[in-house]
Order: sequence, then structure tokens, then C-alpha cells
Amino acid sequence: MVKIDTFENRVAVVTGGASGIGRGIAEALIGAGATVVIADVNEESAQATAKEIGALARHVDVSDPVSVDELAKSVIEECGRVDIVVNNAGVGPLETFESMSLQDFRWVLEINLGGVIHGMKTFLPYLKENENGGYIVNTASVAAVLPGEGTAAYGASKAAMLSIGDTVDLELRAAGNDTVGVATLMPAMVRSNITENSRQRPGFDADTDQTEDFQVESRVLEPRDVGEMVVEALRAGNRHIFTHPETREAIAAYQADVISGFDA
Ligand SMILES: NC(=O)c1ccc[n+]([C@@H]2O[C@H](COP(=O)([O-])OP(=O)(O)OC[C@H]3O[C@@H](n4cnc5c(N)ncnc54)[C@H](O)[C@@H]3O)[C@@H](O)[C@H]2O)c1
Repeated sequence: MVKIDTFENRVAVVTGGASGIGRGIAEALIGAGATVVIADVNEESAQATAKEIGALARHVDVSDPVSVDELAKSVIEECGRVDIVVNNAGVGPLETFESMSLQDFRWVLEINLGGVIHGMKTFLPYLKENENGGYIVNTASVAAVLPGEGTAAYGASKAAMLSIGDTVDLELRAAGNDTVGVATLMPAMVRSNITENSRQRPGFDADTDQTEDFQVESRVLEPRDVGEMVVEALRAGNRHIFTHPETREAIAAYQADVISGFDA
């Protein structure tokens, strides 16, 4: 089991760190002693947040592999290393499958899933170079393990990132690596600007409704509290990070329904 024993002298990159959950994770990592770079497509907001919380700021568009590569090079140039990468930038969930345009479907997949693929491809080699390894954390959602109306594209991107994260973690262990881990964060409701930010998308039609992140009832957590849960999970080596215990029953019922296919 890969754990982060200390965050002192560790460098973390948090994509989508200007707002919401990314900001909360950045604050918790800084509180634990790490140097944090927040990277966001909204450069102005990244600069402002960085100033407020004591982080460094960078521009990145996670849907563009060249931009993610430039981010990595710039972090290595300025900080000399990178130990923790939080692929958190995300958008959605938008609308029902039938009412969603192909343009919107692609937009969600390119940012949410593309962002995780680019982040892992680019940063994994740097983490493996570190003597004491590191961690990748991908921000998915309970939608990764629990389908809900209006989450077709969003849930597809989140389920895929759970699968990629667990696959890469398995492959690292199979290759004898015991210093780099991959974790998946699966929150339910957290206070953030995701709905507002998703309205900035190309071709947004103000007449269409945007669905909530998921259909299961949950408390709305504060981003900083979610950040603290991520730090604790990395200390403990817990790779599947759930933040809302009240969603467990619905997830378990769905998973049991899938498994019951064996009984047919
Ligand atoms: N808020 C929730 O209830 C909730 C629940 C489960 C999962 N999530 C996930 O948490 C993550 C963070 O979302 P949030 O709710 O904090 O939303 P948010 O909109 O407050 O923050 C997301 C940040 O990502 C940035 N971003 C968007 N597209 C980007 C791109 N192409 N490149 C770089 N940065 C980009 C935005 O500018 C923003 O600062 C997302 O992956 C989201 O799916 C959120």
C-alpha cells in the first residue's frame, strides 16, 4: 500500500485549483506542509486564489495534452520536482442523454476524461523518478459508481477515470513499483461553482436545464473538508476516497443489482 507519510518538502499540482473542490484540496495540502501549484483554465481566478491561500498559479487547459506538458515542465523548472498530482478540473453534468448535443458530450469527455488521461500520462514519469514516489488523485464523483438521470456524459467520464486509475495502480504494482499510488475521489454534493462554470461552455443554450451532479440525497460539504479527507486518505493509503457515507446504501444497492446478473 502506497502512503504519503509527510507532506513537508513535497510539491503538489492541483488542476482546477482556482475554485471549489480543487481549492479545498490545495488549502488542505498547504496546511499539511506541501508546496502547491494550482493550475486552471481561468488564469485570473487561479492567480487570485493562489494569492489568498499561499499557492503558486499556472494556466492549463487539461483537455490539451500540449498545455498539460507545458504545465509539468514549468512546475519542474520552478519547483524542481512534483510529488502529488490532483487531476481535479472538471465540468458537467449537463443534461439527459437525449437532450444533450454531441458537442456537449464531447466537451465533457475531453475535459473530464481527457484531463485525467493527459495528467496521468504527463506526470507519472516524474513521480516514478522520485526516490520516495508520489500520488495521483483523480477527482471523479459518486456518479462513477452510481448512475443518475442527467449524468450520461458526466458519469461515463467519471466511471472511466475510476477504471483508468485502478488499472494504472494495478500495472504499477505488477511492474514492482511500490512508491507511486493512484487514488480516486468520489464525492457527492460539495459547494462549488461547477454549474456556473459549465454555463461558460461553447454553444451554451440558456433555455436548457442543467441537472444536479447526482440523484442521491446528500449533505453539501465544504471544499476544505473534502480537502482534509484527501490528505487523510493519502496518509492512510486509501485509494478509494468517499466523502459522503449517506451515499453508501444507494451505491451498494446499484452494485448488488449489477452483480445479480450472475443469478439469472
Ligand atoms: N461540486 C460537486 O458537488 C462535485 C461532486 C462530485 C464531483 N465533483 C468534481 O469535482 C471537480 C471540481 O469541480 P468543482 O465542483 O469544484 O467545480 P468548480 O467549477 O468550482 O471548479 C472547477 C475548476 O476547474 C476549472 N476548469 C474547467 N475546465 C478546465 C480545463 N479545461 N482546464 C483546466 N481547468 C479547468 C474551472 O475553471 C474551475 O476553476 C470536478 O471534476 C467535478 O466533476 C464535484
